[in-house]
Amino acid sequence: MLTSRVSFFEGCGPVNDSVRIGIRMARPADAPGIARVYVDSWRETYAGILPDAGLLRMSKVEHATGWTRMIKASNLRNPVLVASDENANIYAFASAGASRDRSLPFEGEVYTLYVAPGWTGQGLGTALLSAVFRLFSKANCQGVIIWALGDNPSRFFYEALGGRLVAEREHAMWGRTMREIGYGWTTLELAAPKQRVGRGAA
Ligand SMILES: CC(C)(COP(=O)(O)OP(=O)(O)OC[C@H]1O[C@@H](n2cnc3c(N)ncnc32)[C@H](O)[C@@H]1OP(=O)(O)O)[C@@H](O)C(=O)NCCC(=O)NCCS
Repeated sequence: MLTSRVSFFEGCGPVNDSVRIGIRMARPADAPGIARVYVDSWRETYAGILPDAGLLRMSKVEHATGWTRMIKASNLRNPVLVASDENANIYAFASAGASRDRSLPFEGEVYTLYVAPGWTGQGLGTALLSAVFRLFSKANCQGVIIWALGDNPSRFFYEALGGRLVAEREHAMWGRTMREIGYGWTTLELAAPKQRVGRGAA
């Protein structure tokens, strides 16, 4: 098990050691950091699941351009959130908005949720998801869905936080047909503590 290196700006409980991380809305200047987390996480998470050639072709520069656009278009209903320290280093991020599959009874969707390799398992994913749920709750959004590749172990994370397997679909990606699974929450509450401050601390 990892020793926690994370504490949260607004958290309660013991502050562990080195890095203080807060959750906030992304700014355009965060785009390169988001792209780095995104591409690094894809390469680590999807190695052996998606074709190597596609993973190697991913460009952090191109993704930074795309994220700049998305951040500029974001708002409280379509947020891009980052887990960042006081020097604006990005450790994790999430984006969300209206569900893209209107046939399902979930109004909100978390489009992306990625924690930088080396920083997983320390509560950042839970903190980001909690922040998205709080924003959706304020917007009176009814239910949330998150899609994940069927082979991605992140499904254990969603299950631990109370998500239920509610849908499956096939999705063509880089010449392969991938199975995707949808985890849904009908109420905007996570099953786990909202912030896991100083986990690993006494
Ligand atoms: C999935 C992900 C977002 C979870 O964020 P995280 O910060 O690592 O998770 P947390 O530390 O908040 O974990 C919360 C709980 O989820 C569960 N959990 C998390 N990852 C798990 C895993 N791989 N296997 C089993 N349970 C897991 C645990 O119960 C954990 O609580 P615990 O440590 O007290 O037991 C993150 O690991 C990640 O970015 N992974 C790679 C990219 C990815 O798969 N993104 C999702 C794309 S759909």
